[in-house]
Amino acid sequence: MVLGVKYILLGVPCFSMIYAKLIKPILFKFDAEKIHARATNTGEKLGNSSVSRKAISSLYSYENKKLETEILGIKFKNPTGLAAGFDKDARLTKILPSVGFGYEEVGSIAGSPCNGNSKPRLFRLPKDNALVVNYGLCSIGSEIISKKLRNLRFKFPIGVSIVRANNSDIVMDVDKGIRDYIKAYENLKDIGDYLTINISCPNTPDKLAFSCVDNFDKLMREFSKLDIRKPVFIKLKPDFSKKEIDEFLKISDRYSFIKGFVISNLTKNNKNLRSNNLFKGGISGKPVKEKSNEMLKYVYKKTKGKYVLIGCGGIFNAEDAYEKIRNGASLLQLITGMIYNGPGIIKEINKGLVKLLEKDGFNNVLDAVGADVR
Ligand SMILES: Cc1cc2nc3c(=O)[nH]c(=O)nc-3n(C[C@H](O)[C@H](O)[C@H](O)COP(=O)(O)O)c2cc1C
Repeated sequence: MVLGVKYILLGVPCFSMIYAKLIKPILFKFDAEKIHARATNTGEKLGNSSVSRKAISSLYSYENKKLETEILGIKFKNPTGLAAGFDKDARLTKILPSVGFGYEEVGSIAGSPCNGNSKPRLFRLPKDNALVVNYGLCSIGSEIISKKLRNLRFKFPIGVSIVRANNSDIVMDVDKGIRDYIKAYENLKDIGDYLTINISCPNTPDKLAFSCVDNFDKLMREFSKLDIRKPVFIKLKPDFSKKEIDEFLKISDRYSFIKGFVISNLTKNNKNLRSNNLFKGGISGKPVKEKSNEMLKYVYKKTKGKYVLIGCGGIFNAEDAYEKIRNGASLLQLITGMIYNGPGIIKEINKGLVKLLEKDGFNNVLDAVGADVR
């Protein structure tokens, strides 16, 4: 307590230390989903006032030319984005630029509204710096979100992550699933700068999931009939084997609207955890890092820079972020690092990235992309 107050009084910008010593121990006493909902409510309120936006920006923002990029015609002030899942209903688009993020991916947004799984459905594994997520793709649905966002002007790039609703009738029928993806696309196609198709399908038998190559191919064939005007990313899961990745890449090569991959989503792999994980769901955070980095490297090497890769999974500091860039990522995303280390982590990552780029003689973040794979 005394330590945290001292940091505040001295104005030492060690946000993560204050969060770790003062705030996190309190937040972690309560149900994880309730805290997530509170944080979203507070963030939305703060975003609606220009005074709070400015105050937060003065604490958390950091700009540097070395972090500025233009990718697929989209201008990013820095590569550090909020991953899909934290702002499912797109309520934080106003506040996140002030928190220092370079962009965000809203969603995943389902075509039709979907309640998701029953509660509790979000758990912490502190010994592993991880979360177990069993939301079951809850979403208020693409129609409501589209109405809300249609007339907004965003201060940073927005990716829109779409998914098919996890309702039992849709889950059990691949064609209905495709129609729900297309419904989400049609409602949201004019919003944001890029689109991510999330092919993760919780509560779904493997044969009916869109992470099954045949269903993915069918889905892409239907998307190819649409007039797609934005770059499309496919979000992959870290548990794919190299053979499966090769098959996904082979299919993706047939569709010119696919411009990149988000690598990666949550893992189902419970092995090597320190905690005795009894919860059902996908695991985020540190346990994803190695797998997603391996996959990033593999895809970058295999596709020789043809696709834009977004590195996601287990970023807790600038070194983690830089490793993903050197493994082939042009952009980054995170959630769990922010939950464990606080919102100050974004500034710390961006500042740290500049130092690491300078140390290695790179002028811009894009110069370092794939440096360890070449
Ligand atoms: C609470 C929570 C909800 C998530 N929901 C989604 C989602 O709706 N769509 C999606 O593509 N990924 C979702 N994810 C996965 C994240 O986007 C990300 O891929 C994963 O957590 C790894 O990043 P991290 O280690 O920085 O958290 C979710 C993750 C968390 C922690």
